[in-house]
Amino acid sequence: MTDNEHEIEQPDERVPKRVIGTPAPGTSMLGTAEATDTADQDVPGVTLQDEKKARKAEKIVALCFMITFLASIAFIVSYVVFQVGSPEATGTSNLALGGSLTVAILGLAIGIVIWVRQIMPKYSLIQERHPMASAEDDREVVADTFVQGANESGFVKRKLLRRTLLLAAAPLGLVPVVLLRDLDNSKMPGAKFNQTLRHTVWGEKTKEGKPLRLVVEGTGQPIRAADFNSPGGILSVVPEGYQHDLNALAKATLILIKFRPEEIKSGVRQNWIHDGIVAYSKICTHVGCPAALYEQNTHHILCPCHQSTFDAADGAKVIFGPAARPLPQLPITVDGEGYLVAQGDFEVPPGPSYWERGDAEAAAREKGGQA
Ligand code: FES
Repeated sequence: MTDNEHEIEQPDERVPKRVIGTPAPGTSMLGTAEATDTADQDVPGVTLQDEKKARKAEKIVALCFMITFLASIAFIVSYVVFQVGSPEATGTSNLALGGSLTVAILGLAIGIVIWVRQIMPKYSLIQERHPMASAEDDREVVADTFVQGANESGFVKRKLLRRTLLLAAAPLGLVPVVLLRDLDNSKMPGAKFNQTLRHTVWGEKTKEGKPLRLVVEGTGQPIRAADFNSPGGILSVVPEGYQHDLNALAKATLILIKFRPEEIKSGVRQNWIHDGIVAYSKICTHVGCPAALYEQNTHHILCPCHQSTFDAADGAKVIFGPAARPLPQLPITVDGEGYLVAQGDFEVPPGPSYWERGDAEAAAREKGGQA
């Protein structure tokens, strides 16, 4: 053994001795001349890899590790080069970081798997177990006890009890089938009233045929546009007449924000606002938390659940976080008495994006039914 080699103690005589360090010229990967002899012998329970195949595998593993090295460098470079600040830049940065990290981890994982499977020796291990069957005496005792219990319960003798028990148990088998029905998209909010997820009560009218007023959540107070006149102000708003209808509120709750005219950007639909007052759905488009934290100076609406951030001055576009689309804007105006009312329903479905998908599927089903 050379100075830079260290022999590892092996607990089992069957296992060939291995060496850590650079083997001296003329020795195999198993290290010493003695070990080389052992490698050439048949060791019970151990199958050594074919050396030719192992060398080929070694090159593939080295290639995988090189790919990991390059991808890791690419990750670090991407982090420095791709700065975030806009949705597009954030997307590019995420793509570069995620892609390079995936390649790095994949290269490492594939390399290790090939190393273990095609280079390291294989072991056949046998674990001895005691017989699984119980002793004959024990089995007889169990059988006797079972028969005795069955006789004492009267399950065979008392037909009425037996039959009513079987009858009672039968519907239990159907319980999982009933629960599976809940996986149907049509069971999501809205389907109960034979609506799709696209519609909210903002598209409805009062008994008198007038559009629904916006009222303050909690107090039910209608909002006169002239009274909501402080720029930067925000209100949580619901449809009049539906303050206690949880199914309606699940889709129709709004936030109302007052802007100075010069603050409003092109993302806001100008004919859907009144005197700088803009209404957005309060239901986060990620997975539906109430997005109601508002930062007055930056006009950012923040969802507290996963930090999705929307630019209220620019059509509630997503500027950060996992939400995939803006908070839908509701078209509003004022009625004859100066109270804020809805012009109609949302143009796109409010709520999480999977509601939107559910809506598309429901629409396809409706279309299929009509055809
Ligand atoms: S629910 Fe709003 S960010 Fe996830």
